Amino acid sequence: MTCAAANSSHPRIAIAGAGIIGLSCALELARRGASVTLFDPNPPGRGASWAAAGMIAPAFEAASEEGVHPRLFDLCLESAGLWPDFAEQLERESGQSVGYAPGPSLAVAADEATAKHLDGILETLQARALPGDRLDIAAARAIEPALSPDLCGALRLQTDGHVNNRAVVSALICVCERHPAITLENAAAPLHSTGSTLAIDGHDLLLVTAGWQSAALKVSEHGKQFSLVNWETALDEIDTFGGQMLSVERRADHPDTTLRAGPIYMVPRGRELVIGATMEPGRTTGMPNTDDIAALLSRAATIVPSLADARIASTWSGVRPGTPDLAPFLGRTRQPNMFVAAGHYRNGILLTPITARIIADLMLGETANPLADAFAPNRKLPAQA
Ligand code: GLY
Repeated sequence: MTCAAANSSHPRIAIAGAGIIGLSCALELARRGASVTLFDPNPPGRGASWAAAGMIAPAFEAASEEGVHPRLFDLCLESAGLWPDFAEQLERESGQSVGYAPGPSLAVAADEATAKHLDGILETLQARALPGDRLDIAAARAIEPALSPDLCGALRLQTDGHVNNRAVVSALICVCERHPAITLENAAAPLHSTGSTLAIDGHDLLLVTAGWQSAALKVSEHGKQFSLVNWETALDEIDTFGGQMLSVERRADHPDTTLRAGPIYMVPRGRELVIGATMEPGRTTGMPNTDDIAALLSRAATIVPSLADARIASTWSGVRPGTPDLAPFLGRTRQPNMFVAAGHYRNGILLTPITARIIADLMLGETANPLADAFAPNRKLPAQA
C-alpha cells in the first residue's frame, strides 16, 4: 500500500518525533482540521525538550550572536511575542500551570569581553527601539542582591524570560492525548519508500521533528532498512551539541531573577535553581560528568558567590540539534510529501509557538508567515567547518 491520496482540507499527517516541537505542531495542525499521528519510540518530550532550562531569550541568544542566520533574531522575537497566548491557551486547555515568566532577565558581565557583548546586544535592541537597560553593578545588585559585587556591569533584558519546559511538555501531552484528532504511537514512524518517494501508510503528509535523532529513523525499501538521512531531506546537515546541567536546592540567598553570564545561565524553578550549561559539539549521549558539573557550579559561583556551598539537587545532560547557521529548518523538503521542523539548537523552547504556526501554514497550504521562506530547509547554508 502506498501513501493515501491527499485530502487537502483535512489531510492525514504523520509526525516523526514527539518532543515539544512535534507535540505543538500536532496540536496546531489538529486545531486547524488535520488528523495527526505522532510517532516516537521514546516517551514523548523526554529528549532535548526535557533537558532544556526553558529559556525564552531572543535578545541574549540571537541579537548579537556571531555566525547565526541573519533573520534568527526576528524569528526569535516573533516567537517570544506568541508565548503569552501560547502559554495561556495551554494552561486553559490542560488545567496545568506551565510557569511562564515573561522577564525581564539580567545578563551580567564578569570581564570586558562579555561587557562588549552586552553592548552589542543593547545596540541591536536600540536599533529596533526595543527596551534594554545597561546597568552598573550596584544597580544590578539592587535588582538581584545575590550577584557578586566584583562583576563589571549588567544589561536588563525586558524581552527575555523563561518557562518551565517540563511543565509545558506535560501540558502538551495532556492536551494532545485528549484531542480526538491526535493519536500518539509509542513506536518509530513506519516510513517506507515507493520508488523515490517516502510515505507512511494511511497518511497524506509527513513531518519530521526528530532533529539529530533523524539518523536513527529507518526507511523500509525492498524489505531492507535504510537511514532517513539518505533521502534528500536536509536532515544530514544537523549536528549535535551536547549540554550538561544541574539544579541546586534554592535558598533565600540564591537568585530570584533569571541570569545570564556568558555561557552560564541560572533559572529559578520552584525550590530549585537550574544552572546550565556546557556546550559540547559532537556529544550525543552519556551521563553528566562529575568534574564538568563541578566546573559549571564553580563558574556559577563566581557570578553568585552564595552558590559556592550550594547542595546539588540533580544533574542531567541533553543534546541540542544544530544546523550550520544555527537556525531551524522549517518547511518542505525535496521529498514531495515531507516537511521538516528540526535543528532548533539553543532555541527549541523559545521557537515552539512560531514553528507550530509556520509548519501548519505550510502543510495546510495557508498563507505562511513572511519569515518562513528564510528558514526553508533548502536555503543556502554556510560551509561546514
Ligand atoms: N537554551 C540554552 C541552552 O541551549 O543551553
